[in-house]
Amino acid sequence: MEKKKILFVCLGNICRSPSAEAVFRGLIEKEGLQDQFFIDSAGITDYHSGSPADARMQRHAIQRGYNLTSISRPVDPQSDFLEFNMIIGMDNQNIRDLEQLANGTESVNKIFKMTDFCSNCNYDEVPDPYYGGEDGFELVLDLLESACKGLLNFLTNQK
Ligand code: 4NP
Repeated sequence: MEKKKILFVCLGNICRSPSAEAVFRGLIEKEGLQDQFFIDSAGITDYHSGSPADARMQRHAIQRGYNLTSISRPVDPQSDFLEFNMIIGMDNQNIRDLEQLANGTESVNKIFKMTDFCSNCNYDEVPDPYYGGEDGFELVLDLLESACKGLLNFLTNQK
């Protein structure tokens, strides 16, 4: 069976999308489904290209058992829209930026927003935690844990 390929995207690829990648990976590993997925993350910008995840985000994630190992890279519109089945942005601006980068309807149809998979979240985006306090990082993880469960349900029901 061909792997489902999912790319998580945020602005800098050092806080939200590396966390989404780790939370989703943790979930599929727990369910023994890791062979069915290829997961990656990327940023709209290349500001932090080559850097590991933000130290604050790493600290909050590790407290919940998620090890953020990814290295930041920008979205590559040429290859990412071809390679991945789903490209999942964290906030409304990410979605607008991805729509600008997409070339054609088939690519646009691959774009989703993370909170669309949340149940009972009361948020319509995963807020950028970069300039805020510690609570923002916990909120990111709360939203991602809910959304990743919803995403896995969505994908399981799709088959
Ligand atoms: P992320 O957070 O998009 O969740 O990785 C940010 C990281 C860096 C910046 C903004 C948001 N920045 O402005 O450098």
